[in-house]
Amino acid sequence: MLRNKKIILGVCGGIAAYKAIELLRLLTKSGADVHVIMTRAAQEFVAPLTFQTLSSNPVHTELFNLIAEREIGHISLADRADLFIIAPATANIIGKIANGIADDMLTTTVMATKAPVLFAPAMNVNMFTNPIYQENEEKLRRLGYLFEAPVCGSLACGWQGEGKLAAPETIFEAALAALTEKDLAGRTILITAGPTREEIDPVRYISNHSSGKMGYALARTAHCRGAKVILISGPTSLIKPGGVDIIEVTSALEMQNAVMAHVSECHVVIKAAAVADYRPLTRNLTKIKKSADSATIEMIKNPDILAGLGALDNGLKPRPFLVGFAAETDALAENATKKLKEKNLDMIVANDVSQADAGFNVDTNRALLFFKDGSSTPCGLMSKDQLAGSILDHVVARLAQH
Ligand code: PMT
Repeated sequence: MLRNKKIILGVCGGIAAYKAIELLRLLTKSGADVHVIMTRAAQEFVAPLTFQTLSSNPVHTELFNLIAEREIGHISLADRADLFIIAPATANIIGKIANGIADDMLTTTVMATKAPVLFAPAMNVNMFTNPIYQENEEKLRRLGYLFEAPVCGSLACGWQGEGKLAAPETIFEAALAALTEKDLAGRTILITAGPTREEIDPVRYISNHSSGKMGYALARTAHCRGAKVILISGPTSLIKPGGVDIIEVTSALEMQNAVMAHVSECHVVIKAAAVADYRPLTRNLTKIKKSADSATIEMIKNPDILAGLGALDNGLKPRPFLVGFAAETDALAENATKKLKEKNLDMIVANDVSQADAGFNVDTNRALLFFKDGSSTPCGLMSKDQLAGSILDHVVARLAQH
């Protein structure tokens, strides 16, 4: 996702400096060329060698380094950067940058760069709420600097409150968003993800193998591309994507209610959820006791949420662009195109869930995309994040004519 991107990671002196190692790992894993600048205080917490080894690049610590200064190190780093991330960012560094002080390698390079700068602050709660700090942050925000806000929690100093560095995954997503073209800005996209659970009694339910990974990848990617995202999620154990409105549901009926409550605000609906087609006719209020050798549960059909949206055709003007998924184990193209027509969709993503590296509960997928106009395109084996990107490319291209 970050191939060919040059990222400068500025690390400041704070106990959260060790978390910058995890952030560095996420950045390099997704292909970024990361150059680390450490302040003097940061080196009291983590040794530069750790960052050097994990980034495969020399770590910059001194402004006046004789070798690097042959090419004026700070200017050359500043010029080559696609993105600057400062994590953890202390009150001190934010104060200095907000007031134009450039007295070390990190502040000088930030001052010289034209790349976007993303701060991930971490500090004591009283420092964070201090009006001097707040004014500095406000000034930088006004000037277009980006911030990934700290979270609440127990802080290393013993205090409880806001000031804890955001999770490395959250900072990574913010970095990704900063580097992504906002071709979905102004659009609202509703995405459903995960399985539904249909309760039999207080301890048992009927469900399926959906992990939510495909839908969450779509939500993350759409958010990075500037969309307002409403994610309606069945039960999953995934980390919630930042910047996305999440509505958690359990059953198909709950998912239907949530979808119908929000569909009128949406330009696009993508239904990646694996909705149970049937639910038990009745839910036992107490645990069903084991007695006979066999048991029969009478089932009733759930409403088809997507088909319901397709049938709204004349009710909603303009109707949202509808993207369905087809989870198949045989006759992939035939079954998917049948669903495309029957549910009156604009596009359907057909995946063969019988394959080990595609479909349910894996990080990769392989799909065939079919469109209302009869055209189709294959998407070979790729990560679910990449497939989400391809799906959204097609949505963007067709949305203009919708
Ligand atoms: O969550 P993961 O582990 O990452 O797995 C991803 C996935 C396999 C779940 C995903 O890629 C996928 O295929 N999702 C659709 C699963 C499914 O229910 O397919 P279907 O062919 O049964 O349904 C067709 C479409 O109708 C789907 O968009 C579905 O959301 C929708 N539907 C189905 C039944 C129903 N009652 N209401 C619906 O809206």
